[in-house]
Amino acid sequence: MANENTLQNIISHCKEYGFIFQSSEIYDGLSAVYDYGQYGAELKKNIREYWWKSMTQMHENIVGIDAAIFMHPTVWKASGHVDNFSDPMIDNKDSKKRYRVDHLIEGFAETLTDAEKAKGILDQMDALLAADNFAGLKSLIESNNIKCSISQTCSWTDVRQFNLMFKTEFGAVSGEDSEDNIVYLRPETAQGIFVNFLNVQKTGRMKIPFGIAQVGKAFRNEIVARQFIFRMREFEQMEMQFFIKPGTQKEWYEYWKETRMKWHLSLGISPDKYRFHDHIKLAHYADAACDIEFDFPIGFKEVEGIHSRTDFDLKNHQQFSGKKLQYFDNDIDPTTNKPIGNYIPYVIETSIGLDRTVMMILSQAYQEEDLSTEEKKDSRVVLKFPTFLAPIKLAILPLLKKDGLPEIARDLMNDCKLHFKCFYEEKDTIGKRYRRMDALGTPFCVTIDHQTKEDQTVTIRYRDTMVQERILLSEVKSRVLQAIQGF
Ligand code: GAP
Repeated sequence: MANENTLQNIISHCKEYGFIFQSSEIYDGLSAVYDYGQYGAELKKNIREYWWKSMTQMHENIVGIDAAIFMHPTVWKASGHVDNFSDPMIDNKDSKKRYRVDHLIEGFAETLTDAEKAKGILDQMDALLAADNFAGLKSLIESNNIKCSISQTCSWTDVRQFNLMFKTEFGAVSGEDSEDNIVYLRPETAQGIFVNFLNVQKTGRMKIPFGIAQVGKAFRNEIVARQFIFRMREFEQMEMQFFIKPGTQKEWYEYWKETRMKWHLSLGISPDKYRFHDHIKLAHYADAACDIEFDFPIGFKEVEGIHSRTDFDLKNHQQFSGKKLQYFDNDIDPTTNKPIGNYIPYVIETSIGLDRTVMMILSQAYQEEDLSTEEKKDSRVVLKFPTFLAPIKLAILPLLKKDGLPEIARDLMNDCKLHFKCFYEEKDTIGKRYRRMDALGTPFCVTIDHQTKEDQTVTIRYRDTMVQERILLSEVKSRVLQAIQGF
């Protein structure tokens, strides 16, 4: 169930506790660009590592690369991005505000109480988009009297295509209006994988089927850039291209749909928070595609795309570069009893936004709990992250700043910090310190008190249940290690 208030609360929490800040905030910010603070950066890194490991360590036939952001400009001609990477847009003549047509219509449909009417409008929109019928889209907007949220008028321009790639100039000659100097900030990481396909295949002696994974920044000049880190102009993608024999794409597409959904469920999120959405209008490179959608506070939205990209990319790079991008398959073809020979592989792509995954994990973890009793009112905000993703795993809290308690706490810190991220804190009452750790999503707090000096025990407090128990100081490290084992 969509809840904009929850999103607002999450945004405020992220700012207050050092997870995510608006970029260049002291200059009033830069729209749809965000910076990760000290805890957000840890959370993001943990998600990135989990994905990387699940791809490159858990699959023997997938390797990872790190290609540059800048690429030869012809890459984007070959990939189709120069001609096709655009969205239909419409401008309101009074407010001058530009909208992505599908977002404008979807936003309107969400406001309708008549679910059948809303569905009818969305079905019409899908059909018009699939047919690139821009005049039809405009009349759908006008006939439903869809208004601009700023001017509240229905005075619209024609629908036009708008390319989402950022351009910049390369080399010493800046300002010269020459096509030769133009480079693009990559709008997806995938092309860095395609142009390196043969380098990796040959040097890694990879045999089809095999995959190449990559994590990195991508840039899109999004027109409708809102909803926090859901839609940004600079963001990170975690993509994997899986190279297969032509004709086997249907089974591999199903395999990757299932495998990726399992990955999502391994984050401890229940299946009813996810759904698949099959694409009706396919991207220029795909013969089948779907999204994995997550139930964000703003409703079910795409977090990951799975695309059957055919041989579109490799074939076009081969044509534009004039270099062969083929694979020699020496498996025996049973019909001819000879090696299968050369072909351009087909590709199944899995593409997940890292920032969107951060938002998914935050949305899932964020809870406001009422802890009031008959005697007093009380509440807490807690981030119930899966332990292996939590920015801090263990908080070490000496009860007092004296009597040798900080020294014991420091020893524990030194013993644990090699293995996982710890946090040392001696300021404030213990209750306040616990609440702060709840707000940062720290799964374990350990308090060192005077009894520790007597019997070498400490209090361990569990974030989710707030249950406290006495355990041996010497057991603390293994407790935490056990909880993150295998990650
Ligand atoms: N290589 C295929 C590709 O880029 P996409 O569906 O355009 O496909 C893949 O993007 C994923 O990247 C999306 O599912 C989403 O998680 C993330 N993504 C795309 N645009 C984004 C944006 N503007 N801000 C944040 N994440 C974005």
